[in-house]
Amino acid sequence: MSIRNQQTKLNIGLFGFGVVGESLYKVLLNNASLNAQIKKVCIKHPGKKRNAPQELFTTDADALLQDESINVIVELIDDADAAYTIVTTALKSKKAVVSANKRMIAEHLAELLDLQQQYNSQFLYESACCASIPVIRNLEEYYDNDLLQGISGIVNGSTNYILTRISEDNLTFNDALALAQQEGFAESDPALDIEGIDAVNKLTILLTHAYGVVTDPQLIVHAGITRIDEQDATYAKEKGYGIKLVAHAKKLDDGNIAAFVLPQFLNKNSQLYNVKNEYNGVIIESGLADNQFFYGKGAGGFPTASAVLSDLSALRYDYRYEYKKLRYQQPSELTNDFYLRVYVSFDALLQVPHSIFERIDEWSSNNKRCSVTGVIHFSRLLNSDWWKKKGTSLILLPDAFTTYEPQREKIADLELALA
Ligand code: HSE
Repeated sequence: MSIRNQQTKLNIGLFGFGVVGESLYKVLLNNASLNAQIKKVCIKHPGKKRNAPQELFTTDADALLQDESINVIVELIDDADAAYTIVTTALKSKKAVVSANKRMIAEHLAELLDLQQQYNSQFLYESACCASIPVIRNLEEYYDNDLLQGISGIVNGSTNYILTRISEDNLTFNDALALAQQEGFAESDPALDIEGIDAVNKLTILLTHAYGVVTDPQLIVHAGITRIDEQDATYAKEKGYGIKLVAHAKKLDDGNIAAFVLPQFLNKNSQLYNVKNEYNGVIIESGLADNQFFYGKGAGGFPTASAVLSDLSALRYDYRYEYKKLRYQQPSELTNDFYLRVYVSFDALLQVPHSIFERIDEWSSNNKRCSVTGVIHFSRLLNSDWWKKKGTSLILLPDAFTTYEPQREKIADLELALA
C-alpha cells in the first residue's frame, strides 16, 4: 500500500546511528502522529555501545535494502561512497529515500536526477543544506527565476562556530575546532568544513534548486578559513567588520550566475554579521521584495533530525522535488566573467603579482605582512594558485560584487592626468 495512505506505517530502514541518527531515533520515539517506526538500523561498528535495543542493529545493508516491509530508507552516514550505493540501490527498488549526505548528493546530482525520473522514486534531502532551515523547499517552490536575484549565506555551522569562538573567546583555531568536533557539528573529516568543501557541496545543491544549474562541486571556486591570519582579524576589528565564510550565487545582468564560497568581511548592517556559533543564515535577494533572511541552526543532532522529520512527513503527501528551474524554465549557466572587491594579505616574503588587480585601492605593509585591497576579475582565481599559497589569504570585502568597468576607469584616469 502507498505510504501516502496515513494508515500505512512508515517502516524505516536507517543507515547510521551517529549524532543525527540517534537524534532521529529519539524524536521518532515520541512522534506518534507520523505513524513511523525505525525497523532496523545498519551500522558500521557493532561493538560500540548504543542507546537503543541491541536487536535493532545490524551490519548487513541488505537486511534493510532487501526487506520489502521497509518502505523508507533514511541515510545518515558520513561515508559518501557507501551512501551513494545505499541511496541508488534504494531508489532503484522504489523505496522512498531521505538523505542528509550533502557530499554524495552534490557529487552525483545529475545521476540522482535521472534515477528519480526513471524509477519515479521519492528522494528528499532538506537536511543536507543548512540543517534546520527549510531552504531547499523554499527555493524549489516559491522563488520563481525572476524573483531570485541572488543567494548569499553562511551554510557551514562548524566554520561559523570556530570563527565565533576565536573572535569572542580568543580561542586558538585548533581549540575551537576541537570544540566544534565535540559538539558534533564537524564532519568526521573536519578538513571538509574548514577548507570550504562542505559549503561548496551545499552551494552546488542550492544552485540546482535556485537556478537549475547542475554542476560538479569541484569546479566551484572556494576557500575555507584556514589561511585567515591574525593581521586579517586586526584589520577587521579596525574597520568594524566581522569575518564569515560565505557562499554566493548571484544572477548577473546577463542572466548568468556567479557562484563561489570565500571568506568575507561583513559590515554590522549585514544580516549575516550576527549569525554566530553553529547557526546558519541565508539572504535571498528578491527582485521585488528586497532582501529576505532565513536563520536557524545549521548543524547538530536535533536541528538536522528536524529537517529529516519534515522530509518523512512530506513523503506522506507524495511530495517530490520537481527541479522546476531545470525542467520547466530556462536553466541558467555559471559564468566567470565578473569583478569582485577583495582584500589580499600575504607574508612579506611572498609575492602577490600587482598585475592580478584591475585596480588597487589600498596598500599597506609592515615587516611581517602586506595587504592590498582592490578589484580583481573573477577569472584570476581560476586555475591559479597564487591566492591559495600558505601565508596568503584572500577575503572578500563587504558588497563584493562591483560593476567595475575597465573602459570608464581608463577615461577617468586620463581625465585626472589632463586636469
Ligand atoms: N559539518 C556540517 C556543518 C554539518 O558544520 O555545517 C551540517 O551539515
